[in-house]
Amino acid sequence: MSRKQLRPARSRILGTGMAVPDMVWSNDHLATMVDTSDAWIRERTGIEERRILEPGRQNSDLAADAVRAACATAEIDPATLDCLIVGTITPDLTLPACAAYVQQKVGCRGAASFDIAAACAGFVYGLSIGDAFVASGQFKRIAVVGVEILSRITDWTDRNTCVLFGDGAGAVILGPTDDPERGVISTHLYTDGATTDILNIPAGGSKTPLTPKGIEQHDHCIKMNGREVYKHAVRNLAESSRVAMQSNGLELADVDLVVAHQANLRIVEGVAQRLSCPMDRFFINIQKYGNTSSASIPIALDEAVRAGRVKPKDTLLFCALGAGLSWGSAIVRF
Ligand code: ACO
Repeated sequence: MSRKQLRPARSRILGTGMAVPDMVWSNDHLATMVDTSDAWIRERTGIEERRILEPGRQNSDLAADAVRAACATAEIDPATLDCLIVGTITPDLTLPACAAYVQQKVGCRGAASFDIAAACAGFVYGLSIGDAFVASGQFKRIAVVGVEILSRITDWTDRNTCVLFGDGAGAVILGPTDDPERGVISTHLYTDGATTDILNIPAGGSKTPLTPKGIEQHDHCIKMNGREVYKHAVRNLAESSRVAMQSNGLELADVDLVVAHQANLRIVEGVAQRLSCPMDRFFINIQKYGNTSSASIPIALDEAVRAGRVKPKDTLLFCALGAGLSWGSAIVRF
């Protein structure tokens, strides 16, 4: 007698991929633009260089490259994707969704394609949505992308922010699995709308349309109270990581690798300290790319996989926080 499956399918990461621009801007290069130094940036952030997208190439070009790379490792044809979720705050245009351009470029016509705006937490939010779609049976081949061209919304005259950001894209392919030892185990998402003022882009939305004066004041660029973001980041990343582990009866010793949002090396060190977790359990690549917002976790994950730091069935902890503030965590058995 055939039995109907009672528990919905779980999603598993079938493949990972990334794409970063070729152009590299070192800290020394930034020191020619604003009053800063290589020593200050390294010491306060851990960043050594970042990638900048060449003029003429767009967010959707980089995102499509990352999706193709992830499909290649998952050994699936991009045309068979039935859903495309793009976490980004730097879409090609405000309308339509960046995902529509990505879809056209990877050739999965008809696939449900949409953007989510959860800033640096965009990938973890996208993973959670993709996992729920797979669990419900609605979609079977989902690309979850984190992609940002932050260089185009960075105020290159503001040393408080311009040293932090970089461009890049990362993607994973999700599909159903029956393997009880592998899959997205749980995701945990949060937002605190009382903190919208510490990290935002003041103009360009429906509240404050962009004017010539606004452009002059760089109001279309990221404004941030770095110290406030820093405090919230350390506290909330550690707390949501703890919730993710406790929800699954896991101890830190059960986690093989923590892939945290690469915002600032000192933030990651602060999280490690709060969790009493050795730093070698964290994957770090912020020195090469800076803060790539929603792209940072899928880029780090892809590099960790390719470096042999992640093996099948390893237990991974993801955690990210960004504007909103929105943050989240996830436990994944790879
Ligand atoms: N070079 C040299 N000096 C600088 C620079 C710079 N690039 N930037 C700031 N300073 C100066 C400040 O002006 C200040 O000088 P003052 O004391 O004379 O006023 C001094 O350095 C110290 O400034 P702080 O802001 O206290 O420096 P801090 O150690 O806090 O580091 C930083 C600043 C790196 C921004 C940190 O607060 C941080 O990482 N915050 C979190 C940022 C983040 O993670 N954002 C993520 C979200 S982004 C998104 O969602 C898109």
